[in-house]
Amino acid sequence: MRRTYRAAVSSAGAASVVLLGACSDPSALVPRAEEAGRISTLFWVMLAVGTAVFLLVAALLVASVIRSRRESAEERPGDGVRMVALGGVVLPVVVVVPLAVYTLVTASALSAGDDQPVLVDVVGRQFWWEVRYPGHGVVAANEVHIPAGSDVTVRLRSRDVIHSFWAPRLHGKVDLIPGETTSLHISDAEPGVYRGACAEFCGIQHAGMKLLVHVQPPAEFAAWLDDQRQAAAPPAGSDESRGLEVFLRSGCASCHTIRGTDARGAIGPDLTHVASRSTLAAGVIPNTRGHLAGWILDPQSVKPGAGMPPIPLEPDELHALLDYLETRR
Ligand code: CUA
Repeated sequence: MRRTYRAAVSSAGAASVVLLGACSDPSALVPRAEEAGRISTLFWVMLAVGTAVFLLVAALLVASVIRSRRESAEERPGDGVRMVALGGVVLPVVVVVPLAVYTLVTASALSAGDDQPVLVDVVGRQFWWEVRYPGHGVVAANEVHIPAGSDVTVRLRSRDVIHSFWAPRLHGKVDLIPGETTSLHISDAEPGVYRGACAEFCGIQHAGMKLLVHVQPPAEFAAWLDDQRQAAAPPAGSDESRGLEVFLRSGCASCHTIRGTDARGAIGPDLTHVASRSTLAAGVIPNTRGHLAGWILDPQSVKPGAGMPPIPLEPDELHALLDYLETRR
C-alpha cells in the first residue's frame, strides 16, 4: 500500500514538473503576440474537447461494465447498430468537423498579410541565422530585433538544408526551405527578449542553432537599427589596430565581414557589431572575452560540426584580436 502511495505521489510530482515546465519561458502556452495567442487558444480548445470526449468514453465504458454485470447481458435488437451509428458517425462528425473548421480558420488567420512589406530577412544556415534588414544595409546574426506593437513580416529562406524558425511565445514553427521563400507575421508583440530555436533537424548542430528575438519599443528599435547600420569605427589605439591586422591576416576575413574594413567574407556571420550580441555560436556560449577566445582557438570543441575552423594564434595576437572584437559594438 505504502509503495503504491509513494509511486502515485512521485508520478504526480513528475507530471506536475512536466506541466509547469510547459508554462515557463519559452513556452508556446505563454503567448506574447497575437499569432502565438491564436495558436495557444486552439491548443486549449483542442485539449478541452479531447478531455470531454475521453471522459465521455470512459463513462460509457464503466456504465457498460456495470450494466453487463447487473443484467444478463441481454442485447435488444438494433442496439449494436445504434451504438455504432452514434459513436462511430454522429459523435466524430459533431466533434471533429467544428475542430477542423476552427483549425483552418486559425491557420488562415496566421497566414494573412502576405502582401505586407518585409521588415527582416532571416536566412537559415548550418548552423546559425543570418538576419538582414532590407533597405537599411543592416546584417546581423542570431538575434532578430523587431518593434513592439506593430505588424512585422519576417521573410524566411535557407542557404543549405531545411530549417524551421520557432520563437514559441510569438508564433508557430515556419520552415525555411532551400529554393523557396516563406514568411511569418508577428502582430502586436509585447516588449521582451524571447528565446527561439531551429525546429527542423538540419544536421549535427541542429540543437546548437538557437536565436533570440528582441521585441523593443519602436524608438528603441529605431535606435538599434541606426547603430547597426553604421560601419565599424576605426580601431582606437595600437592594440586594437594590431587586432584588426590579425583579423585580416589570420583567415578570419575570408569568412567574415566587418563593414568599413577589407574583411568581406560571406561564409560566417557579419561581425561589424559582434560585441552588441549577447551570445556567440548561435546561442551556444555567452559572448564574453573568455568564451570568445575559446571559440576562436578551438571552435570544434565548443560546437562540433560548426563551419568555423580553429585559428591558431600566439597569446599576444589573440589578446589584440579580442581587444579589437570586443569594441565592435
Ligand atoms: Cu537548423 Cu535545425
